[in-house]
Amino acid sequence: MKRASMKFWAVALATIVVTTAAQAGDTIKVGFLVEMTGTFSDFGQHIVNGATAYIQQHGDTVAGKKIVLIVRDTTGPAPEVAKRLAQELIVKDEVDFIVGFGLTPNALAVAPIVTEARKPTIIMNAATSVITTKSPYIVRVSFTLAQVTEPMAEWAYKNGVRKVYTLVADYGPGNDAEKTFKAAFTKLGGEIVGSVRVPLQNPEFGPFVQRIKDAKPEAVFAFVPAGELAVGLMKSYRERGLAKEGIRLLCTGDVTDDGVIDALGDSALGVISTHQYSMAHDSPENKAFLAAYAKVDTKLRPNFMAVAGWDGMAAIYEVARQLKGDIDPDKAMQVLRGLKLDSPRGPIQIDADTRDIVQDVYVREVKKVGDHLYNVEFDKFVAVKDPGK
Ligand code: PHB
Repeated sequence: MKRASMKFWAVALATIVVTTAAQAGDTIKVGFLVEMTGTFSDFGQHIVNGATAYIQQHGDTVAGKKIVLIVRDTTGPAPEVAKRLAQELIVKDEVDFIVGFGLTPNALAVAPIVTEARKPTIIMNAATSVITTKSPYIVRVSFTLAQVTEPMAEWAYKNGVRKVYTLVADYGPGNDAEKTFKAAFTKLGGEIVGSVRVPLQNPEFGPFVQRIKDAKPEAVFAFVPAGELAVGLMKSYRERGLAKEGIRLLCTGDVTDDGVIDALGDSALGVISTHQYSMAHDSPENKAFLAAYAKVDTKLRPNFMAVAGWDGMAAIYEVARQLKGDIDPDKAMQVLRGLKLDSPRGPIQIDADTRDIVQDVYVREVKKVGDHLYNVEFDKFVAVKDPGK
């Protein structure tokens, strides 16, 4: 009994200390809800690495406030875990911003909570169009599947492709990708000869890919989340010999993600994708990002999620500067609406009405440069809005 009450006071004291520090107003707390373990653990690593690289490059103090990162692991697509952690970040940790979200289901689950708490929330990956409509306190610095898919459909048709089979992961962003590709490609006169949706968890690609091979399309359009699933898809594409049959792989850049591209091996050579960021993007901003990132993580190659982590922190620093360190939620949202940044991926802007990102979408080809594979950009669609709104 005595031990229990001692423990209670220890906890109470710790809470008071934290509260006092927060009230003293000397910090800006940024709560990360990210996948740090499980199949999607790379997502959280990329996002937190990108944010950390930004802080290392720009200093951990802005407008007289020290930036404090609090990282919480959602463990995967786990809406209930995400909700509980969001509540803790708001009530217990008293964060000023909630950021992160590799996966759509976690972002959607948290939307009502951040609305209720009036907590500025920055989506650093989750890419289903509808997310930003679910709360006036959500902005997105990543991308939407519709935004990168429509350019792919246009590029494919313009380059003579007429019969396509679609393959997507069966959840929000995959459904957006399938819908967008079908609409844009058939509007131009192309034909969809078949469509398949694979499960998000542990998909067995072989039978799906075989079905596509048997249908003999000219190309497959594919979206699966970056990382392990992309590696699995590429492996089946190679093993089932689709390339040998002349069936091209056209995809969103998630499939040829910089983080795993070397693991895809030479079978990825020549694959065409559309996306917003490539490590090979040639700009001073990207060089600065890559140099800063290399000091944070020497093993994991940075990808589009790392860049969104970087840009999300850039947005927070800008809000802090404009509000002179006093983070009022509604004033913060006002700064975020319409915000323009020179991102490592190129110029980006937050649409003031939709709070979604407007950015260039690049067409890229997987090539070997030196000892490594890269998505080499060769064409671009300028200032693309989310067509899914
Ligand atoms: C998502 O869950 O919204 C998501 C995850 C990984 C991606 C793209 C979208 O590569």
